[in-house]
Amino acid sequence: MIRLLSVVGARPNFMKVAPIVDELKKFPDIEHCLVHSGQHYDELLSGNFFADLGLPTPDVNLNTGSGSHAVQTAEIMKRIEPVLIEYKPQMVLVVGDVNSTIAAALTAVKLGISVAHIEAGLRSFDTTMPEEINRKLTDAISSLLFVTEASGVENLKREGAAAENIFLVGNVMIDCLLKHREVAARSPILARLGLRRNGSGCRPYGVLTLHRPSNADNPKTLEDILSAVSELAADLPVFFPIHPRTRKNIESFGLGRYLANADTAGGVGIIPLDPLGYLDFLSLNDKARLVLTDSGGIQEETTVLGVPCLTLRESTERPATVDHGSNQIIGIDPKRILAAARSVLQKPPQKFPTPPLWDGKAAPRIGAILRQHLGADRG
Ligand code: UD1
Repeated sequence: MIRLLSVVGARPNFMKVAPIVDELKKFPDIEHCLVHSGQHYDELLSGNFFADLGLPTPDVNLNTGSGSHAVQTAEIMKRIEPVLIEYKPQMVLVVGDVNSTIAAALTAVKLGISVAHIEAGLRSFDTTMPEEINRKLTDAISSLLFVTEASGVENLKREGAAAENIFLVGNVMIDCLLKHREVAARSPILARLGLRRNGSGCRPYGVLTLHRPSNADNPKTLEDILSAVSELAADLPVFFPIHPRTRKNIESFGLGRYLANADTAGGVGIIPLDPLGYLDFLSLNDKARLVLTDSGGIQEETTVLGVPCLTLRESTERPATVDHGSNQIIGIDPKRILAAARSVLQKPPQKFPTPPLWDGKAAPRIGAILRQHLGADRG
């Protein structure tokens, strides 16, 4: 029997691990333990995703919660160590680039347990991003590096990773999206937001998400972005599911005036929403005319959905979304945001190609490599 243990912690981990959980279930000689670090604990950031994705209740929840980076990372390490000692997995699987990813990987390798990193090799080359630090460190200590796009392979080779440990397998987040796209289309969200037109599709609208500390924690930057988007939103409603970090800051910086009151706005303005579940958010994005975001994963999802995406950052660790898809890196200058958005809205919607291997089959490729590596295929 092969024992594997996967770790999730924050919202963008859940849709990456779901296809892996499904895949590993197919093999009776694999036993799999799912650990939730508790980095995200709100129902809207965690529980809803388990329900939408049909993920099993985690075998272990470390209930770590929020804290400074050091406190959160250290606490996850302290709490996962006895779990690893007791379960004795042959390999630990970590996904993405959140604090839970590096905390679990570091604890495992120090116990002599090897680590596979899913979504390895992405680099923004901006070390002020906590995720960039997490990505580089996790890759440096992982034995198997599963990569989503060609740039990741180049980055890992440049950093000295052995070629035989690097596997370009495609994108598990896209496996999840393709699996759920049809069921998401039946979500009531568009009707609830008054966007469905009788028999003729949807009213045009935009979607905004913001949660990166560099945008959400800086009063001037947050105001610049909200003022540009509110100008755009005078013509076209922009729905804004708000991350708790950003919501808190909008309130404490006194920026609430940029948000519309959904009941009185007459269908325009920046319309604030609570964080949405996976299916509602997929449905909302799928039919959007334009998405403005500072998220990494949404750049990938819009690429596959063929929805124009304006990334409100100075860099991306996912250049395939720009080379192959609909993504543009716009930065945070309000004039530039407005000009780029207006230019997108003037053009008729276009079709975009998708990056190689973003075909819904990344998890089976990962499963096959894991089995080969761990000797299951010989047994
Ligand atoms: C984390 C990840 C980020 C990812 C994002 C998705 C790191 C370094 N950052 O950022 O890469 O894109 O998740 O959301 O791992 N909070 C709640 N409820 C929760 C969790 C957090 O209200 O369930 C609030 C708390 O005030 C907390 C703050 O959000 O202090 C930040 O949470 P944290 O987990 O530190 O980072 P995120 O900003 O969510």
